[in-house]
Amino acid sequence: MTEGAARLVRPNPHIIFDQATFAHGERVVFDGFSLSLQERRIGLIGSNGSGKSSLLRLAHGLALPAGGIVTTLGLNTGTHRKQIPSQVGFLFQNPDRQIIFPTVGEEIAFGFQERGDTRREAMHQALVWLSRFGRTDWFERVVHDLSEGQKQLVCLISVLALEPSLILLDEPFASLDLSTRLAFADQLQALDQPIVMASHDLDFLAPFDRVVWLEQGRVRADGPPRDVLEAYRAEAHRGMRELV
Ligand SMILES: Nc1ncnc2c1ncn2[C@@H]1O[C@H](COP(=O)(O)OP(=O)(O)OP(=O)(O)O)[C@@H](O)[C@H]1O
Ligand SMILES: [Mg+2]
Repeated sequence: MTEGAARLVRPNPHIIFDQATFAHGERVVFDGFSLSLQERRIGLIGSNGSGKSSLLRLAHGLALPAGGIVTTLGLNTGTHRKQIPSQVGFLFQNPDRQIIFPTVGEEIAFGFQERGDTRREAMHQALVWLSRFGRTDWFERVVHDLSEGQKQLVCLISVLALEPSLILLDEPFASLDLSTRLAFADQLQALDQPIVMASHDLDFLAPFDRVVWLEQGRVRADGPPRDVLEAYRAEAHRGMRELV
């Protein structure tokens, strides 16, 4: 196959960062950051503060670049910010930032109501989705009375229930117990939609198509999980030896 033909069959990128610049106050996170993401399963790794959450927030339009352009599903986040949430699911690293409603049923139903379902239809959908995850008994529970892991699961169900075209997950498994984590890992792998996931759970990223390692707002390594995860582990061990 010629190089030109190979380019033609390549799927369109879901997310493009083109010379994006982003800062939290004085703290520059990205300075002329460029990256194109098109694979079905992409993992984001990197040490605390390396920019994983910032990258996902920029991709969803929750944060906007001060310079450059971020395009998600063909939408410039600066000019089409409002259209993105209906097509792109986003799971916050901290469930408390995601949760708005008092009960689990209402929280999951919210997205359906936003889409135009009546409250009755939306609540029915919420129950259907809870039953898919074996959690119908949570329907009337007060979300803030749930454990951290249970809240994370409610947020994950809320995101998946809307069957978005692209799914951005920021540390989705941080608080989940092992059996819930394994069940969810299976569910996520089975989904057709592309997923970009920030995670410190390196084993989970092993079967992914691509892993991007961020370091201080730059791409330190990018490629097949086997290579990138191995390099990242080796670096972590070197760093650990320096600390002790
Ligand atoms: N709300 C904020 N205000 C000021 N600076 C922030 C804020 N959130 C993040 N930062 C800074 O932005 C940089 C990138 O943070 P980010 O949250 O994107 O990192 P991360 O890779 O997701 O880290 P972690 O693995 O801890 O989740 C860090 O230097 C961090 O200190
Ligand atoms: Mg983060």
